[in-house]
Amino acid sequence: MTQQTPLTELPEWKALVESAAQLKKAPMNLTSVMTPERVREFSLSLDTPEGPFLVDFSKNLVDAEVWQQLGRLAEATKVATTVRRTLGGEAVNRTEGRAALHTALRCRDPAAVVSAAGAGGADDVMPGIRRVLAQMRDFTERVRSGAWRGHSDQTMTDVVNIGIGGSDLGPAMACQALAHYGHSGGLRMHFISNVDPTHLAEVLRLVNPATTLFIIASKTFTTQETLANARAAKAWFLEHSGAGEAAVAKHFVALSTNQRGCQEFGIDPANMFEFWDWVGGRFSMWGAVGLSIALFVGMDHFEQMLDGANFMDRHFLETIDQPSKCVPLVLALLGVWYNNFLDAQTHAILPYDQYLARLPAYLQQCDMESNGKSTNLDGQKVDYSTGSIIWGEPGTNGQHAFFQLIHQGTKLIPCDFLAPAQGINPPFEQHELLLSNFLAQTAALMMGKSEAQVRADMKNLPEAERDALTPHRIFAGSKPSTSIVYPKLTPFQFGSLVAMYEHKVLAQAAIWNINPFDQWGVELGKKMANDLLPCVQDAVRVAAATAAGDICPEASKILQQY
Ligand code: F6P
Repeated sequence: MTQQTPLTELPEWKALVESAAQLKKAPMNLTSVMTPERVREFSLSLDTPEGPFLVDFSKNLVDAEVWQQLGRLAEATKVATTVRRTLGGEAVNRTEGRAALHTALRCRDPAAVVSAAGAGGADDVMPGIRRVLAQMRDFTERVRSGAWRGHSDQTMTDVVNIGIGGSDLGPAMACQALAHYGHSGGLRMHFISNVDPTHLAEVLRLVNPATTLFIIASKTFTTQETLANARAAKAWFLEHSGAGEAAVAKHFVALSTNQRGCQEFGIDPANMFEFWDWVGGRFSMWGAVGLSIALFVGMDHFEQMLDGANFMDRHFLETIDQPSKCVPLVLALLGVWYNNFLDAQTHAILPYDQYLARLPAYLQQCDMESNGKSTNLDGQKVDYSTGSIIWGEPGTNGQHAFFQLIHQGTKLIPCDFLAPAQGINPPFEQHELLLSNFLAQTAALMMGKSEAQVRADMKNLPEAERDALTPHRIFAGSKPSTSIVYPKLTPFQFGSLVAMYEHKVLAQAAIWNINPFDQWGVELGKKMANDLLPCVQDAVRVAAATAAGDICPEASKILQQY
């Protein structure tokens, strides 16, 4: 979808520029506008089979007028059309001539036909998806039940997933998020991504080759880091197992679109779990790349995760024409408001749920690799800000680290606070403490603390001391946050949450008129790293050159070719 009128020339855009200018002149006092009606107007509750999924966006710097203007911007930029085209399987990833159909991986309708209009024309993707899901079920059940045996007839105790980016972050995050559901299979999960051999070495120290299953996860099967780690893991396995090459088939499987690459590596084609070029790496944990998740939590739980994502997909499609009803679009519009009109540079993701500790890291790729673009779909340089810097940590840890800056620093940092209504682990009084912190922080950000309150708190201090301390103790307040509360962290709710953020990213890309499905920006560094390899074989010389703020002459010759 491209826009005929440049985005910043649209009257809907200009109206928001005007509203933002007014807001900067007369800042909004969130506490004074907060009423039960406002909370009703600016919150959504989705009826999931496990209870309400709540999104309260009333503590954001929007009033009814700005909200309507944002809704009109969504209409003017034809977000709904882009969303329907994407989820309908059109080749929306134009720079790579592909569809972006990861939503089909979690399509739960047994009769569904979903077509991917890739470069090769339209194909129903569902038979392939169902075949791989069946293959995953069969394999995971054999491993978990002990029917799958290693080279010395032992059952598997450890799974090592080797991959990077989308072939690591999704499954690593999900295995941590769903750890409570992973105890039944008795498998220990490990993830190796970094090309730094330390990552591999520290995992291999923990596992026994006779009882370890290695998963090589790489969409392309050409990624330098993954192949280097996979080769090193295979060499370690052959050396430490004392088994011959034939044993590799019992200990190595691959998740990839590249059958030839897997075979060349020595993986039995029967142990390859396929996916397709219309599944972007950062959206791939819903299919074969989720094998480690399914091994850990079992295929039934994995499919519940797909159900949850599919629930959010259907909600997104059904409500995409109604900005105030559509959760991912609400998040997208708030993000655009802060990013493009109120000059926020970053967005914090703050899960009050230890299980979601890796969600911010996962969303960094999902959001920043997708929307870190400065060229629009028509090939023109954009004259507005696109993707935000995503960051965060679980609460309450973040409160004792960076919250000071959110409360009293000089930067505007919109925050998403996420929490489960119900905890999973005792003691449950501690869950209450967690929730009280969740509520307290969003309230404190909103309310701040006025000079009068600060002075009243210090009424017993000598006046001079009170005067000196007062400015330091004032909180401006009116710092925006969105609260997202799900019933409990189940596979279903987890799937819904992740899909919600994927769709937020798509809706923002539609408004910004950019392609969220390619990532050319990371290719240059990858190629340079390969070309520079011969120059870094002398580690001492590299260290000396780096210390001298220089690069070695061979390297500089290579870099001149770029
Ligand atoms: O960093 C670029 C990237 O292509 C990501 O998009 C991708 O998730 C990652 O590398 C890993 O790629 P692959 O799965 O092909 O090894």
